[in-house]
Amino acid sequence: MYGLEGRKAIVTGAAHGIGKAIAARLVTEGCDVGIFDVDLAAARKTADAIGAPGRKVAVAAGDVSSKADVEAGIGALMAELGPIDILVNNAGICRIGKMMEMSEADWKATFGINVDGLYHVSRLVVPQMIERGSGSVVNLASWMGKSGVAAYGAYCASKFAVVALTQALAAEIGEHGVRVNAVAPGLIVDTKMRDESELDRVAQGLPTAQDRAKTIPMRRAGLPEDIAKAVVFLASSQADYITGETVNVTGGLWND
Ligand SMILES: NC(=O)c1ccc[n+]([C@@H]2O[C@H](COP(=O)([O-])OP(=O)(O)OC[C@H]3O[C@@H](n4cnc5c(N)ncnc54)[C@H](O)[C@@H]3O)[C@@H](O)[C@H]2O)c1
Repeated sequence: MYGLEGRKAIVTGAAHGIGKAIAARLVTEGCDVGIFDVDLAAARKTADAIGAPGRKVAVAAGDVSSKADVEAGIGALMAELGPIDILVNNAGICRIGKMMEMSEADWKATFGINVDGLYHVSRLVVPQMIERGSGSVVNLASWMGKSGVAAYGAYCASKFAVVALTQALAAEIGEHGVRVNAVAPGLIVDTKMRDESELDRVAQGLPTAQDRAKTIPMRRAGLPEDIAKAVVFLASSQADYITGETVNVTGGLWND
């Protein structure tokens, strides 16, 4: 339906959570997929789990915030898969903490991974797309990239940056036939990020996922597969006149 058979995709942070669901869905749609993740053991497990006959799922280990890791790992994936049609900048972290209390290390890690990571990976993959006159980039933003939320200042600021970079890069390279969009997930459960931060959240007096879900208009938290559906749409020719957009996938939690 989406016409993605034979396409080559790279998904960062696809060992777990949303990235894993995106990679799995891209394989189902007929893509060969490269996974770049800091957690090599989990990335290998994911590759085994989502593989399908006739499809290639390649893995490379590295940290998106390190230019050297990106050049080595993403470079190896590009060499193995061939020219990349779809880049999903998904790797990200969420450190909870009020701005006056958050450590500088947490602040820097958040920007290093969520913003510099997107910069390093895009700068390696996008030039080939421009050269070939086609390609689609989908970035993972957040509804917190559209609204400042207490105790999420660093994360919100990094995701506002993702929205801005999506718009700026789309404006820069639209003329070359390369589209750049983002997805802004709401509350998504069954991810490592969500599970690991639940205790922090309770310690800081923030609502649990279960409590927050009750206030979402659709009365449920989202699942990684909900995000994968939007990513596949944006990556495909079904969205071929859409660029520079950040699409909310929040069950109505956020509309702006
Ligand atoms: N879960 C949510 O509620 C939610 C909401 C909005 C946006 N998002 C965004 O979606 C994306 C995926 O989040 P998730 O919930 O699936 O998280 P997750 O923790 O389940 O998965 C993140 C993946 O990124 C990898 N990763 C982390 N740091 C890395 C690094 N430095 N280099 C390479 N890989 C790295 C992890 O190993 C993991 O596989 C993130 O960008 C996140 O900000 C998540």
